[in-house]
Amino acid sequence: MTAEVLTPASREAPTNLQVTWEPELRRYWYAVARADAVRGPIHRRLLGTDLVLWSPVAGEYAAAEDRCPHRDARLSDGWLDDCSLVCPYHGWEFDGGGQATRIPQLPADAAIPPRAELTTYPVVERYGWLWTCLSDDPVAPVPALAELDDPKWRVIHEPESEWDCSAASLVDNNNDAAHIAFVHRGTFGSPARPDVPVADVTRTGFGITVRIEIPVTSRPGTVEETKRYVYNDVHAPFLMVIRIAYSDGVNHIMLKSCTPADDNSTRQLQVVFRDDSEADVPAAEIAAFDARVWEEDKSVLERALPRYSLDLTTNVHLKIDRPSIEYRRLLADVISGRFPE
Ligand code: FES
Ligand SMILES: [Fe+2]
Repeated sequence: MTAEVLTPASREAPTNLQVTWEPELRRYWYAVARADAVRGPIHRRLLGTDLVLWSPVAGEYAAAEDRCPHRDARLSDGWLDDCSLVCPYHGWEFDGGGQATRIPQLPADAAIPPRAELTTYPVVERYGWLWTCLSDDPVAPVPALAELDDPKWRVIHEPESEWDCSAASLVDNNNDAAHIAFVHRGTFGSPARPDVPVADVTRTGFGITVRIEIPVTSRPGTVEETKRYVYNDVHAPFLMVIRIAYSDGVNHIMLKSCTPADDNSTRQLQVVFRDDSEADVPAAEIAAFDARVWEEDKSVLERALPRYSLDLTTNVHLKIDRPSIEYRRLLADVISGRFPE
């Protein structure tokens, strides 16, 4: 039997995905922080790059490499003074465009050295998140999800969370119905139901769509058996729009970004959209349910081998692992520049 190895032509095997190494991954937009977390400078890491995010003026945001050009101090340890970002080491001040505007050690009328500027990145605010891209040649804009603007949804912003696993493993986990019976036996799964159907998976212009129906033992606010009709759009490389319809007609959408901080470190951002009311199921109950579910997933993902192999011969795959196989194929195409076509 000939093994199928998803090795990009330009690289040699083995092919464990190393997000910090792959130049093509820098060409995507990533959600890096909840907008309401940013006023003074904060630190985020994206694809191995340290970033400082700040808001020079209310409602406006900036991002730059988290390094002062003077002596490499971390600007995220600094502060805002009026509209300026102040370096904590010698007090140099920078505007929202990353230009030094004041160097306290120079006379007021002295010229600012032209290289006294930050390496900045663009910032877009959407869905309550700040997004950035490390390349000036992005593959595609921030996904436009017009359906989420519909006023029928109530919007629940959940806390950001840090995961000691790869972004690919976290996406993979969200498309893996077979783990629910075991990992989530304390919340919505039951070991008595290990059988799951094979999902439909289709390649799209933005990534893949995974469709599956899963019986579950509970959901936020209830403990009765129900069925989840799941329709997950995976936008390459690590963003998901997970649409869940329940048997009784309630719709629950999770917008989930698995933002790669490093090869084995991921920041998850999640917003929930629901078409029921606070009186039906309080937002706090939904967030608490999800927090329990995430702890269950972490207990496995953070203990697994820190690798995500794009070589399909590395792991044993079953028919029900189709979403995982197609996702690995997608990522292999992304990092080799074959996606989008
Ligand atoms: S290191 Fe930033 S002002 Fe000196
Ligand atoms: Fe899970």
